[in-house]
Amino acid sequence: MFCTQCGVRAMAPSRFCGQCGARLPVPVPAPEAPAREISRRQMTVLFCDLVGSTTLAEALDAEDLFEALRAYHTLVKRIAVRFNGHVAKVVGDGVDVYFGYPMANEDDAVRAIHAGLAIVEGIGSLAGPDGKPYGLGVRVGLATGRVTVGQTDTLAIAGATPNLAARIQAEAQPGQVLVSPVTRRIAGPQFDYDDLGPVALKGFADPVRLSAVAGVKGFNSRSAWRGRDGALPMIGRERELARLRQAWEACRHGPGEAVLVMGEAGLGKSRLATALAESLHDEPHLVIRLQCSPFHTNSVLYPFVQHLMAAAGFARHDSPQAQIEKLEAQLAIAGISEPQDLALMASLLDIPVDGRYPPLEMPPPARLQLAGELLVRYFAELTSQVPMVSTEALLALYFRGVTRSKPLLIVFDDLHWIDPSSLELLDKLLSTARLQHTLFVLTARPGFEHCFPPQARVPTIELRRLDAGQSRQMVAQLCHAIDLPASSVDLILSKTDGIPLFIEEMTRMVQDVQGVRSGLGLGSAGLGVPDTLLDLLTERLDRLGPAKALAQAAAALGQTFPTDLLAAVAQLPATTFEDQLNRLLASGLLLPHGPGQLKFKHALVENTAYDTTLLKTRVALHGRVVECLQGEFAALAQGAPELLAHHLARANRALEAARYLLQAGVQSLQGGAPREAAEHLKAGLQALQGVAEGPARAEVELGLLSVLGPTTMVLMGPGSAQFGEVQKRAYALCQSLPGKPRQFPITYGLCLYHWGRAEFDQALPLAQQLLHTANAIECGELDLGVAPHEAVMAACNMNGMIAFHRGESVQALAHLQRSVSLYQPERDAALYPVYLMDFGIFGRFYLALAHMACGEAEAAQQHALDAYTLAQRLNQPHSLGFSMLANFNIAVMRQEPEVALRFAEQCVAFSTQFGFPEFIGMARIVRGWATARRGQPEQGLADLEEGVRLWQSTGFENWQTWFVCLKAEILAELGRREQAVLEIDEQLERIQRNQERQFLPQLQRWRAALATG
Ligand SMILES: Nc1ncnc2c1ncn2[C@@H]1O[C@H](COP(=O)(O)OP(=O)(O)OP(=O)(O)O)[C@@H](O)[C@H]1O
Ligand SMILES: [Mg+2]
Repeated sequence: MFCTQCGVRAMAPSRFCGQCGARLPVPVPAPEAPAREISRRQMTVLFCDLVGSTTLAEALDAEDLFEALRAYHTLVKRIAVRFNGHVAKVVGDGVDVYFGYPMANEDDAVRAIHAGLAIVEGIGSLAGPDGKPYGLGVRVGLATGRVTVGQTDTLAIAGATPNLAARIQAEAQPGQVLVSPVTRRIAGPQFDYDDLGPVALKGFADPVRLSAVAGVKGFNSRSAWRGRDGALPMIGRERELARLRQAWEACRHGPGEAVLVMGEAGLGKSRLATALAESLHDEPHLVIRLQCSPFHTNSVLYPFVQHLMAAAGFARHDSPQAQIEKLEAQLAIAGISEPQDLALMASLLDIPVDGRYPPLEMPPPARLQLAGELLVRYFAELTSQVPMVSTEALLALYFRGVTRSKPLLIVFDDLHWIDPSSLELLDKLLSTARLQHTLFVLTARPGFEHCFPPQARVPTIELRRLDAGQSRQMVAQLCHAIDLPASSVDLILSKTDGIPLFIEEMTRMVQDVQGVRSGLGLGSAGLGVPDTLLDLLTERLDRLGPAKALAQAAAALGQTFPTDLLAAVAQLPATTFEDQLNRLLASGLLLPHGPGQLKFKHALVENTAYDTTLLKTRVALHGRVVECLQGEFAALAQGAPELLAHHLARANRALEAARYLLQAGVQSLQGGAPREAAEHLKAGLQALQGVAEGPARAEVELGLLSVLGPTTMVLMGPGSAQFGEVQKRAYALCQSLPGKPRQFPITYGLCLYHWGRAEFDQALPLAQQLLHTANAIECGELDLGVAPHEAVMAACNMNGMIAFHRGESVQALAHLQRSVSLYQPERDAALYPVYLMDFGIFGRFYLALAHMACGEAEAAQQHALDAYTLAQRLNQPHSLGFSMLANFNIAVMRQEPEVALRFAEQCVAFSTQFGFPEFIGMARIVRGWATARRGQPEQGLADLEEGVRLWQSTGFENWQTWFVCLKAEILAELGRREQAVLEIDEQLERIQRNQERQFLPQLQRWRAALATG
């Protein structure tokens, strides 16, 4: 048991932690039989059917047929029970067995395959009372998938998995066990398979890749196979490895040592033992792996028997005779050759001896006792035998006599599954029969509690989770050549809590998810729980009994949450709540997390609890959370509208959710976080998709669009297709609604888009419409809920910008002067969230340009500097960026490369930080020009060209003619006049098309200058 406060392992009987004094959780009682209510879970379904039952009916008389069928059903039931399967349905000759219901087991897929093989093997030996075999045969199909299952009057199941298992069964040959790809993947590597390739199955759209189980590599669980191959380089664990090495060094020269490595599933206990074994490669040693099995927690001396069979080299189809000979040879290594001893070991391994040895005449307890003693002798002798030498280096050492002590490493894995007789023997091996030169590395998960005999001295190494750096390293190693986006790596790390197994499986899943290979990254919603971990995690939840429902309620709240909120949402009587909460704490799945707060220990457990909650229950839970957050717990949702939105969306109250997402978007924008704002707003629009059309939905949608539009403009640029899409949709929606709500700012936004793309024929009518509206508002003829100064500022700003680019500088100056003169920072900075444009700053930018175009360079510079000063006072990064643009552009026009360079460099750094692509583009163009002016034309040209590419990629059409003027200057400097002329001609054509005439005279001057040389 571990202290939930400080994480230190506590001694079994104590009630308080010896380290920090905190009260220890109540020990977890044995799992109760779970209530057989409806649940969502992953299951492996085994479907078996008799072969040729019609022929059978003809061959046997009715009574015999009945008996044969009964024997078959009994066999399947017996095998199902043995592997923790649940016989769900018997329809004639077909039997459905579920693995993972009503309790999940970490190894359900493995169990199901073993059960399938056992059925196939057992069916042939079914015989009638006269001993005559019935001659039955069977086909078995297995499939794994997520289902909803529950006991009503009968057992009901929703999901394709049982059907898939039945279809797979139909493809099997008599005596064959066929599995689905998911079953094969989850079961892991302990079976051999024949790949049958994709097979078309009735009722399934895509062919399914089937595998026939060809053999068993070992009778163990999936976990027993992990951590052994050491395929990936070891990460971290230096201290733990050093402790094991120290123990190894000690026992090489003296009596045996033992170390217990404790840690939860997947933390790397087996891998650590493997790392120790690997580290011994250049010294003589012998490694023996004793493996406990979840299927054999009561099989006598199971790990020892398995070791003997493997060490002796038993093969699947060996005759008893061959097995006996192999066993004798193996035992002879340890000097065991007495017929009596051999008979005992043969009986332990269940090999018929056929009179080869004298009969064993002793009761079973005495046999066990003797077998134990023999095994002690066997191991003791092994250590004094010639060590296994495999490399030349070892042989050399051996012949030089360096290896007098021949040490032995015994890895005894997964003691939490050990059978009682093996544990007793282990105690003996560690105490009275302490072996010389032998290190025992024992591994176990928390829950294994055993008092080793006092003489044994078994220090414990508690494995801890990998830290963030190590986890990151592990993801990187697993990804090989694939470059996972940083967001996906972060997501993996956040979900896997430093548990290597979780990291491995999550990374695998992420790699499998389509799109990642092309570098797209994943949204946080893009990942669930890997199916390879689902059984393991569901088992932990199922073991909670009735407290599982409380874990599910907690999962609806997220990874961390206040205890009293959970109590309010769970709606349990106080004592029941307390009992169940204690149980969750004692299980270690929930941890205290600061005063009055709880936390799921693993994000993946939280996800599993949530995934396995019935949809209706989820909706009800989130509904209760909303009630709490809008009532008694309102303080928790204060300033966090996205929290309410989250629960509302999951409570199927999408419209309300969208309203809160709009609030969240506005709030993020005000906090200077446009990216987050855009995410909230898009989520709001997404939520609305399931809402019926109507005025309420339209109102919220328009609200979302009218904030998303300017936000997109800031993030993607005003010429971007995304901005255009949002503005067009907003404009159309607004026009279709009575009273055309928000018409003015939406029209401004659409106009801005057409302006950015230099589509003046579309921008102009809209701009004129804005001006008429503004004038009407100013005269009091119209009331759109827009203040007169706001309307005039916006309309004049827009008309001024259009006029400037069209080359109508005098009109531009007039419009912009009118706009800027109305601006009062204290009052009008508040308009920023509506237009995402500060008319004081943006207006001064264009006012400066208009002054410049009218030949008033000093006024231009003053307005640019004023814009910069003002922007520094306002908390609007985008506006500050504009003010930099104003200054470096005016500096270029004033032929001041040093000033231009300073502002451009500042702008590149600043805009990169905030992600304003068109600002970076323009700043690099200017930086390139200034660099060329400072005598580095090649370098300057490269920067400028890159800037132009970036600018164009945002869809921005304006300004390109001016950029070519700057480029022409550098090309001329480099003597590339022809290219300069060519590019200028292209721009002249562009002007013909788009009518952006502001820079036409400048272009023509360059054209003429280049032509005359
Ligand atoms: N330090 C590590 N460096 C690299 N890989 C690791 C490390 N620790 C564990 N792994 C890998 O993570 C997976 C899980 O490790 P392992 O099987 O050793 O865990 P375990 O604690 O033995 O789990 P169980 O209790 O289920 O047996 C394995 O594939 C293993 O190779
Ligand atoms: Mg292990």
